[in-house]
Amino acid sequence: MPSLEIDGAHLVYDDTGAPFDGAPTLLLVHGFPLSRAMWGAQLEGLADAARVVAPDLRGYGESTLGAWPGGKNPTLDRYGEDLARLAEHLGAAGPVVLCGFSMGGYIAMAMLRRFPESFHALALVDTRANADDETARATRLKMADKIHEWGAGRVAELMRPKLFAPGAPDAAVEATTAVIAATSPLAIAASQLAMASRPDSTGLLRSIDKPTLVVCGEQDELSPPDVMRGMAEAIPDARYVEIPDAGHMAPVENPSAVNAALREFAAGLADPAA
Ligand code: MLT
Repeated sequence: MPSLEIDGAHLVYDDTGAPFDGAPTLLLVHGFPLSRAMWGAQLEGLADAARVVAPDLRGYGESTLGAWPGGKNPTLDRYGEDLARLAEHLGAAGPVVLCGFSMGGYIAMAMLRRFPESFHALALVDTRANADDETARATRLKMADKIHEWGAGRVAELMRPKLFAPGAPDAAVEATTAVIAATSPLAIAASQLAMASRPDSTGLLRSIDKPTLVVCGEQDELSPPDVMRGMAEAIPDARYVEIPDAGHMAPVENPSAVNAALREFAAGLADPAA
């Protein structure tokens, strides 16, 4: 498995596809507290259309946490910098599509601020632009504080009912729950503190000057369709696609519909080197 050392962390990633010179690169960024395993159907199903790269963010899956991101005050910029360095390391010839799912979408907002030159197009999947309200922030800080006592298994049980539409395939639910339960408590704490401190990005949407695809599971309760449709309306060059038979975990609940949207979007991008 390819990997990269960045500032004390060992980052592992999948790298498949690249069917032709100048093919687009899909850089798939997982959510919280997940791993690159959530992109299995995209790594397999889109390899004939694009180079498909899916890293484990620091602390997740097979990647190590390295130094505590941001010291005592971690921010999403740490993950953004890792992804910018990975994108540079990939040396992609064609356009790079930064595809962020949920927390991965929050990281994409951080990258729009800090590392906009590291990608050419954006896909925002089951995510939102606003910052947390006080209740959400307090919930995150409590989890960051208690996670060593609770263990990741409790986080898996807390999150499971919110992630899937009723009738989601059992295998997808079980696999996702197992990934969450196996996640390092330190990674969970770091991400919760980083997400709690993220700024509001609603105003940023109007300034996005990259082609953008906005994808939302029609039964997503965490980043619902009306919220994501509003994001697409605010972004100057955006297309909105709603995924049937899916909740928050649309890429694993209805991979064929998500893959069709990503395939069409990637095919429509011009090669920046051409
Ligand atoms: C995710 O799926 O990444 C999380 O639901 C994001 C969050 O906790 O806001």
